[in-house]
Amino acid sequence: MTQLDRLAMAMIAYDEGDPKRIHHFLKVHDFARLIGLAEGLDERTLFRLEAAAYVHDIGIHEGERRFGRNDGKIQEDLGPAETEKLLGTLGFDGEDIARISWLVGHHHSYGSIDGPDAQILAEADMLVNQYEDGVTDRKRNEALYRRLYRTETGKRLFEALYFAEYPAHA
Ligand SMILES: [Fe+2]
Repeated sequence: MTQLDRLAMAMIAYDEGDPKRIHHFLKVHDFARLIGLAEGLDERTLFRLEAAAYVHDIGIHEGERRFGRNDGKIQEDLGPAETEKLLGTLGFDGEDIARISWLVGHHHSYGSIDGPDAQILAEADMLVNQYEDGVTDRKRNEALYRRLYRTETGKRLFEALYFAEYPAHA
């Protein structure tokens, strides 16, 4: 197992009993990895992106436990410290921990996107959220597409999921 696989297992253990959250971060990770590979990220940036995708919502349970809420703000406030603890126990490098924690602390703040890892994490998260939240309204999806999507791969995936027509099942 690679360090990323160990992180995936540790994050599943962290979220145990909550299959919805576990499915969510596994899907976000897969989209993020695909986009990162297709966009030609260097190895270290891809590693940080993949790790951030696994842990990006780590603040949710802590927010629910301590404050009874799990909105984007509380996730961004509580996520980085939880990230540092978890990655520390798995022996991640200090600079990697710093960047991954920053990504976790800003993943709902599109205005602060400052690199391809932050951009792709946000794109991958919303590829999954629109489906999980049942957003089928074309105008809402188009508005998000224009506001957020910048990578060619992210755009293509969003189009395939939310703009392409699939004939009704027989
Ligand atoms: Fe998410």
